[in-house]
Order: sequence, then structure tokens, then C-alpha cells
Amino acid sequence: MEKINGEALFSLKDKIIVVTGGASGIGRTVANYMAAMGAHIAIFDVTADKAEAVAGELVELYGHRAMALACDVTKPEQVEQSLERVAETLGVPDVLVNNAGIGQHKFCLDLTPEEWLRVNDVNYNGIFYMATAFARLLIRHGKQGSIINTGSMSAGIVNVPQQQIAYNSSKAGVIHMTHTLAVELADYGIRVNAVSPGYIFTEMTAKRPQSLRDEWISRTPQKRLGVPDDLAAAYIYLASDSARYTTGSNIVVDGGYTII
Ligand SMILES: NC(=O)c1ccc[n+]([C@@H]2O[C@H](COP(=O)([O-])OP(=O)(O)OC[C@H]3O[C@@H](n4cnc5c(N)ncnc54)[C@H](O)[C@@H]3O)[C@@H](O)[C@H]2O)c1
Repeated sequence: MEKINGEALFSLKDKIIVVTGGASGIGRTVANYMAAMGAHIAIFDVTADKAEAVAGELVELYGHRAMALACDVTKPEQVEQSLERVAETLGVPDVLVNNAGIGQHKFCLDLTPEEWLRVNDVNYNGIFYMATAFARLLIRHGKQGSIINTGSMSAGIVNVPQQQIAYNSSKAGVIHMTHTLAVELADYGIRVNAVSPGYIFTEMTAKRPQSLRDEWISRTPQKRLGVPDDLAAAYIYLASDSARYTTGSNIVVDGGYTII
């Protein structure tokens, strides 16, 4: 038996990691944990001032390099340019946390085509634009890497009592996109996985009424909402070299919601 260096198991030392939607909620917390594990972080978000503030905090807390870019994941050109900026400034990235997303509660028959398209543009097209631009960049530089898509338990269940067809459909698409990208990019040494959270208390869910959040809690076996910190280790594992044989997987972190 060989002696194992336990501390190195989930190390992200000197990995360069892009986090989309990193200005708030899950992305912001995951960026914090990843920096704590040794990574240099690039925050991509539409809210540029908040993204700058997060990058500034990370530099202050850990002394690693960090940067923020105003990047809308629905704009393929912006996505490509932003990734190039990261490559020039921090170096060619190792990991993409493909996490930007928006919610929407609306009955299917009341949804306008514009509303349908908007949710799918951010949650589904955005994931594709980011993942493929990231993979092209890595392949051009002969580098291997890891893509972690934020899915949702809504990819496999229909949430109740709220109605959210566009969100659920977009997330189901993200999970099968994860499987497909994992197969198509395996030859290039790029792993593609997903983390699917249950109900997590973030800016996204904070805007919903307390009565609705209470209903979600009552339907969750652990009888609480998750917090972004509950998800961090799943992202760290998938980003780390310990996950070298893990691709096409979907780690569900939902307090047991989807098993009953
Ligand atoms: N909160 C939950 O209960 C929950 C559950 C399952 C999945 N998720 C998923 O987790 C991810 C993060 O959600 P959150 O709860 O942290 O939400 P959040 O609203 O706190 O954060 C989302 C971030 O994405 C950014 N963003 C939105 N549109 C963008 C765009 N076009 N380009 C770039 N950035 C954009 C926002 O500015 C924001 O900073 C989303 O994909 C969401 O669907 C959340």
C-alpha cells in the first residue's frame, strides 16, 4: 500500500477556473470555495459591478489571482472574447463552472414565446455557447479540462405547486447536453459533468414568497432549504483531478427531495 497525501486529493492549486453567474448565489459561493482550494478565478456575469466586487474579495481573502468580466452567456461572440481575455490574463483555463441561469414561474398556457425563448436562451443556449467555446480554446492550446454544468433537480421532476415549464425543460436539456458533450469531448481529455441542486436559498429563491418556500421545505426529507455551501464539495470534486474517470455524471444535491 502506498501512503496517500489526503490533502492533495481535492486540491485545485493553481487551476484557472471560469465561473459564470459568479456574481451571486451558487456561483459566488462555489468561486469562494474553489479559491480556498487554491484556484485562480474568473467571474463572468451580466452584473459587472457585482462580479468585480466578488473578484476583489477573492484576491483580498486568498491572495490568488482573480478577474471579473461583463459577459452575457447568450452572446456567443462575447463568450469567445471573454474566454480569450482569461487566457491572456490568467492563462488558459482548466475548469468551467457553467452556472449562469434564471428562473421563471408561469403557467404553460400563459407563457409568451419571448418568455419561453429568454429562459431557454440563458439556461440552455448559454450552457452550449460557453461549453463549446471553452472546449475549442482548450483543444487549440492542447490542454485537458473539466466542464461542470449547473443543472437542477427540475431536469427530472415537475416542481409543484409553482408552474415553470420553460425552466424545467431548459434544465432537462442541460443534463442530456452534459451526457452528449461528455461523449463527444472524451477523446480530447475534456470531462463534462453536472451538479443538480434541489431548493437552495439564493437571490433566485429569496424573491419567492415565504409561504412557497415553506411548502418546498415541507416536501424535502431534510426539512430545510439548502444553502450554496452545501453544494461546494460536489463542484470541487468534479473540478479536481480525483474526478479523472468521472464524466457524463450528474450529482444531485437536494436534501432527498427527488427520492420520495
Ligand atoms: N437556487 C436554487 O434553488 C437552484 C436550484 C437548482 C438549480 N439552480 C441553478 O443554479 C444556478 C445559479 O442560480 P442561483 O440560485 O445562484 O441564482 P442567482 O440569481 O443568485 O445567480 C445567478 C447569476 O447568474 C447571472 N446571470 C443571469 N443571466 C446571465 C447571463 N445571461 N449571462 C451571465 N450571467 C447571467 C446573474 O446576474 C446572477 O449573478 C442557475 O443555473 C440555477 O438555475 C438554482
